[in-house]
Amino acid sequence: MNACIRSVTRTALYEGRRVFGVLDGYEGLLKGRFKRLESRDVGGIIDRGGTILGTSRSEEFLDPENRKRAYGHLLDKGVGGLVVIGGNGSAAGAHAIARETKLNVVAAPASIDNDVFGTDNAVGFDTAVNTALDAVDKLRQTADSHHRIFVVEVMGRKSGAIALEVALAGGAEAALVPEVPESAELPPLAERLTFNLKHTRKKSAIVICAEGAGRAEPIAEVLESLTGVECRATVLGHLQRGGAPTSYDRNLAARLGWAAVNAIFDGKSDALVGLVSNAIRLTPLEKVVAHEHRFNHQEYALLGILSL
Ligand code: F6P
Repeated sequence: MNACIRSVTRTALYEGRRVFGVLDGYEGLLKGRFKRLESRDVGGIIDRGGTILGTSRSEEFLDPENRKRAYGHLLDKGVGGLVVIGGNGSAAGAHAIARETKLNVVAAPASIDNDVFGTDNAVGFDTAVNTALDAVDKLRQTADSHHRIFVVEVMGRKSGAIALEVALAGGAEAALVPEVPESAELPPLAERLTFNLKHTRKKSAIVICAEGAGRAEPIAEVLESLTGVECRATVLGHLQRGGAPTSYDRNLAARLGWAAVNAIFDGKSDALVGLVSNAIRLTPLEKVVAHEHRFNHQEYALLGILSL
């Protein structure tokens, strides 16, 4: 997100505009908490996770009456265009602002869940995947040594994107994801793991579960009782939301931030800038809020083959 803030700021400054950052997301917008941003204010942040501006999950912003307060603050500052960086909640807020004001509003997708419609990848997803992958690689070493099953819980309350990507890249034996409800059926999984661990030369098993498909601890208990193999649970949690962003994420953020500002200069509004097949695409926010990002069922099927 910081790389995106930097890109938005410097693109707009390059075009001779004034830039304000809104502190703490929609919460700050309701209170008129703006910070003037110059080029140096966004220096030295490209390698930092999180957001220097702060963020919030604002219940208050859902109420149209409250939103009028925010519009007053934007008007007072003479704001003409707004870039909203975030996930589905942020996109829904951006859609409301675009419909209720004359501002040009463009959203840039940033979510470790990679569940925003209109982009192949959201900013932060690649970094979260690589953070989780690093943990899985380490867990595999101890799992192999002890001949154990490890259940690793990754983030994703409604999205199995991190779980799938990490499972495929980490050579995991299975991914439990909310998009494939049968993936969380433990008896068939236990049967497969038992066979592999007792009758082939497989030394260990790694099961990745998205938090939305089940919790690691109870899953590990059930798998241990069904397989008779020692199981351990690891919850990676919010670790996945910090750390130095990958080059992919930094450059995606740079491209989307630049594209969002230019879309505003072109008079576009109520749209999301996304990366589709490596090209920048604009998608109406109406479509973004009405659709879900497609789960990659082909990749999920591939995992089933490669984890034999
Ligand atoms: O939206 C990103 C996400 O990390 C989800 O994967 C997770 O379920 C949720 O946020 C956790 O939210 P919070 O930190 O507010 O508990």
